[in-house]
Amino acid sequence: MLERAIGWIKDNTIPGKGIVITSKREVCYPEVTGYYIPTLLSLGEDKLAHQYARWLVSVQQADGSFGLDGKGYAFDTGQVVRGFVALVEQMPELESPLRRACNWLIEIADAQTGRLQVPSAGGVWKLGSRGEVNEGINLYVLKPLRQAGELLNEPGYIQFVDKSLNYYLENVTLTDFSAANALTHFYAYIQEALVELGCGDVACAGMASAGRYQDSDGAVPAYSDVTWVCSTGQAQLAQVWYRLGENERADAAMRFLEVLQNPSGGFFGSYGRQADYFPDEEISWAVKYAIEAAQLQIASHFNQTVNIYQNEISESDPRVEGVLNYLGDLNGKRVLDAGCGKGRYAAVIKQRYPQADVTALDISEEMLRYVPDGINKVQGGILDMPFGDGQFDAVICIEALEHVVNIENGVKELSRVLAGGGKLMIIDKNKEKLGQLKMPSWEKWFGREELLDMMLSNGLRAQAQFIGHDKVTEPDGLFIAWIGQKEYTISTRDVCSDLKRNNILAGTNEK
Ligand SMILES: C[S@@+](CC[C@H](N)C(=O)[O-])C[C@H]1O[C@@H](n2cnc3c(N)ncnc32)[C@H](O)[C@@H]1O
Repeated sequence: MLERAIGWIKDNTIPGKGIVITSKREVCYPEVTGYYIPTLLSLGEDKLAHQYARWLVSVQQADGSFGLDGKGYAFDTGQVVRGFVALVEQMPELESPLRRACNWLIEIADAQTGRLQVPSAGGVWKLGSRGEVNEGINLYVLKPLRQAGELLNEPGYIQFVDKSLNYYLENVTLTDFSAANALTHFYAYIQEALVELGCGDVACAGMASAGRYQDSDGAVPAYSDVTWVCSTGQAQLAQVWYRLGENERADAAMRFLEVLQNPSGGFFGSYGRQADYFPDEEISWAVKYAIEAAQLQIASHFNQTVNIYQNEISESDPRVEGVLNYLGDLNGKRVLDAGCGKGRYAAVIKQRYPQADVTALDISEEMLRYVPDGINKVQGGILDMPFGDGQFDAVICIEALEHVVNIENGVKELSRVLAGGGKLMIIDKNKEKLGQLKMPSWEKWFGREELLDMMLSNGLRAQAQFIGHDKVTEPDGLFIAWIGQKEYTISTRDVCSDLKRNNILAGTNEK
């Protein structure tokens, strides 16, 4: 699902600008372009995120606001703030546009209560006989505004957020899915906002109200009194259920969502008889939430299955021998185990080389709990690692890249954090052996050349060899070890003969 969804974003971005409104309205949408930015960063699509931000700066209105029709809207402006906040450290030129957008949000709000601006009745929030969109969706502005206050050192923004949050909690109905205007899409904005603002208990009540309508096939109707489904709302509810740890409901919602995806990678706004929320247009915001929910689905899978993974690995496992032989003496070196699981490789390295500075990164919090003391633990994704360029002398990534939603960006990121002369070792399964083991729907196995090409194009001198595993000491073709060194000055052929001469990859043979 994810690869096709990422393809849809690229196909529906207007060159040099932002994302379209829908497949039929090919006009850039500021609000959605704004909130796509953190999603793009999580996918390692930094260049596209920067492009979106630059375009947004170019369409900021004179008063600092954002909107589609020349008018400023709080919700839209808040979503651009969400994008700018995610990027401002990388792009300091966003600081002034960010400040102007935040100031506008606060200036136009009710000073007494902190109630944010609401479009005039019968305008962009009208829902026909169902009334107007619940103004509680403006809660989705507050977390970005709070983050802006922290980043820009503006305590006034944070005080405003506290006051405003209280206003909504006390004056707006936030947790009743049976309300006539509670389209899952809008309703889930409110629930996600509550979670991100630290009001998980309120969101639990809200999600329980929606959960009462979830069908056995995972579908949640777009409104409590219809049978059709809003794709975005379905993805958003899955996302919030994952965030609240309600994995069963979330997994069921995802199973239903996956079937809805069109061959283009996009989603119509709604599906089913009498569907009336963009039923024949692919809407850009559906793809964002489908991607976010799918990423959480992977993390949740590992959180839930943590018990089936082994805590330790034998030093005689050919993969361990391969790692130790290739990386050499690591004392005094900075080592990263990316997608470390329970840190069984990191632990072997630390034990063998106590002076190594070993960091273990994983997307799953539950896995990280098992990483032994003495190793730095970092929760995060391989596509967007919180490390500077060239921060490590050695990087290993073992049976983890196969779960990363964008392999090219994964290899790019693993190479980026490697210092000049540093070594990367990826061990994963061979595409030609697909079918040999049961695997989740998103898992990918790789061809030998496929990863080699990616390593080469990221400035690594690379080669690949079959490698044994577990008690299979002679390589049986299931696992491949890709090794590469950054900015190695001699030719690839020399590297290969050097590796062979020193028998660096014990337990391996060439294809
Ligand atoms: C099969 S386990 C392998 C763990 C470890 N490398 C080992 O061999 O013991 C795969 C691990 O990759 C992690 N993972 C999956 N996607 C990830 C991502 N995008 N970023 C970081 N870790 C990820 C999972 O949480 C899981 O712990």
